[in-house]
Amino acid sequence: ELSPIDRAKYAASKRAVDLVENGMRVGLGTGSTAAWMVRCLAERVKKEGLSITCVPTSERTGELARELGLEVVTLEEAKWLDLTIDGTDEFDPELNLIKGGGGAHLREKVVATASDRMVVIADPGKEVAQLGAFPLPVEVLAFGLAATRALIEEMLVSLDVLGREVTLRMNGDKPFVTDEGNYVLDLHLGRIGNARQMALVLNQVPGVVENGLFVDICDQVIVGHPDGRVDIHG
Ligand code: A5P
Repeated sequence: ELSPIDRAKYAASKRAVDLVENGMRVGLGTGSTAAWMVRCLAERVKKEGLSITCVPTSERTGELARELGLEVVTLEEAKWLDLTIDGTDEFDPELNLIKGGGGAHLREKVVATASDRMVVIADPGKEVAQLGAFPLPVEVLAFGLAATRALIEEMLVSLDVLGREVTLRMNGDKPFVTDEGNYVLDLHLGRIGNARQMALVLNQVPGVVENGLFVDICDQVIVGHPDGRVDIHG
């Protein structure tokens, strides 16, 4: 028996995989919602005998996709993608996103921007009027961590945000390490007044690899509800 939130994620996933057509190259997101989507996609591929190639946004998703029998290739091999389907931590009315709660936003952003179309699947709890209640993940080099962190903290003073706390993401008593071997700083901003400016300014800091703001990248958000209904934004 699925929980209401899983039914919502399933409803959104089911609808999203209907967008996949035979012959497509498809980017697969990361997280619990994206995992539902990978299961729904594998089921469709098996049932309808579709021939598609998939590019995962994380080691985790790649493992799941292979286990379920999907054909997995690298982004190098695929070169370009027709469609990427991913989850999100927040989305706003402009379909800008905060991603990276699972620490995969770097590869997620590379894959999404190498796709003709990015579709996000979400449960109703991900919808916000303004981004920023969810801590903004920023992938940084381990090299010079303290200096990078200080530069980010200094930069936040001049921007339109409510909070300025920065924390290093941990995995037990060690720093969390991304698939690319980097660390993640979580920025507790409360409210991000100007997401575009924040995204640009953060990536100016030399030790920053990529921030979790997706501005003008997502084309459509499919929100699933526990009763199976879906709302489509965009
Ligand atoms: C992974 O780094 C994230 O961007 C996920 O896509 C995001 O955290 C959503 O995860 P859930 O679907 O588990 O909420």
